[in-house]
Amino acid sequence: MKKTLLAAAFGLASLLGASAQAKYEPTEANLKSREEFRDMKLGIFLHWGIYSTFAQGEWYLQNAVPDRYEYAKAADAFYPHRFDARQWVRSFKEAGAKYICFTSRHHDGFSMWNTKQSKYNIVEATPFGRDVIKELAEACKEEGIRLHFYYSHLDWMRDDYPMGRTGTNVGKPRDKADWKSYYSFMNNQLTELLTQYGSIGAIWFDGWWDHEEDSVPFDWHLQEQYELIHRLQPTCLVGNNHHGAPMEGEDIQIFERDLPGEMTTGFAKSVAEVSRLPLETCETMNGMWGYKVTDNNYKSTADIIRLLIKTSGKGANLLMNIGPQPNGELPAVALQRLKELGEWTTAYGETIYGTDAGDVKPQPWGVTTKKDGKLFVHVLAPECLVPGDGGNPVLYLPLDWKVKSVTEFIGGAKVEYRKTSNGIAVVLPRKIEAVDYVLVVQ
Ligand code: GLC
Repeated sequence: MKKTLLAAAFGLASLLGASAQAKYEPTEANLKSREEFRDMKLGIFLHWGIYSTFAQGEWYLQNAVPDRYEYAKAADAFYPHRFDARQWVRSFKEAGAKYICFTSRHHDGFSMWNTKQSKYNIVEATPFGRDVIKELAEACKEEGIRLHFYYSHLDWMRDDYPMGRTGTNVGKPRDKADWKSYYSFMNNQLTELLTQYGSIGAIWFDGWWDHEEDSVPFDWHLQEQYELIHRLQPTCLVGNNHHGAPMEGEDIQIFERDLPGEMTTGFAKSVAEVSRLPLETCETMNGMWGYKVTDNNYKSTADIIRLLIKTSGKGANLLMNIGPQPNGELPAVALQRLKELGEWTTAYGETIYGTDAGDVKPQPWGVTTKKDGKLFVHVLAPECLVPGDGGNPVLYLPLDWKVKSVTEFIGGAKVEYRKTSNGIAVVLPRKIEAVDYVLVVQ
């Protein structure tokens, strides 16, 4: 009896051991990389590919072209003679961005580097013939900017990709699907990206949702793929834009066009779940990700700044997108926004970089961030504050801190405050004109 019990206990232990092995344990190096990422707060997303030549956004093939081979002819016209990786990266850096995320291969299946896995790539299929990823990697290294790669899981071009709910009208046969072949194609490509371009900050997957409506759950074999990435570069973070709670093996949680947990964009099920992983919100600077000639609906600089502060107030990073032009230049409006954003980050950067979400949760009037015993109070909408006796707006901060001082971040002037039963009440100037009026509570 004792023996059987022992055997059973042993069996259970090894079972537990087995499942513990399958569980993803990030390495020390990976954990460090996550913390570095968390501190960065601002990244630039770049959607650039042969779709840019049509100037109708990155979904043009799926939305309008009945024959994928007709679309593919754009490769032969892709000649972005004004592309200058250094100039791009410098303007991102001057804006205060700490990393960029570049579309290595989007849903149209075109690879923007010298891949050996398919001839449908920028070096072999375009007259331009330059490996832009190589040039970007070099520029990023020189400028001290981290490089991330967007990588599409789905593919509207290749026959071996098992078609999901998109790409159904581009003339692709369904009966040539070959998951094994497609999976090894992807893993070979990822291996190239992670062995030929230096240290990569993250792989940013997209397209999982292509199969979310399948009647039989589709197996993307993510764990094995994530393992490959971590094996090749332990510091490379894995993120996946599946709109849900993080899956095993992922290092960051992504929110598309949404602040963490706010669920304002209506994507799927569990985005309300905010994990303890580093968080990232991606958003477009105008309306589209890829260059669209009619889309001039740019957010104002003030709106971009407020968005950056709001993501910081959630402890998240903002990945702000730009769709470069077919000639290789960044749109002039985007450059202007970057320049103005840079003026703000130069003056106020200390209040966001390296901070955590502050102790006071986001409020209608603004948000808080914190670092080294300082709480940065960002007043973004002073009109939401109630005037006190003297007519000046009063800000109530529910805080269990022992407050030593309250000062204006710019200039350092002391600001009047009094203790209340659950925190402090700060009396603000009557007229607040800054996009972001910041107080420092020590
Ligand atoms: C969506 C779109 C894709 C874009 C991505 C960026 O998944 O399908 O085109 O690249 O969002 O977040």
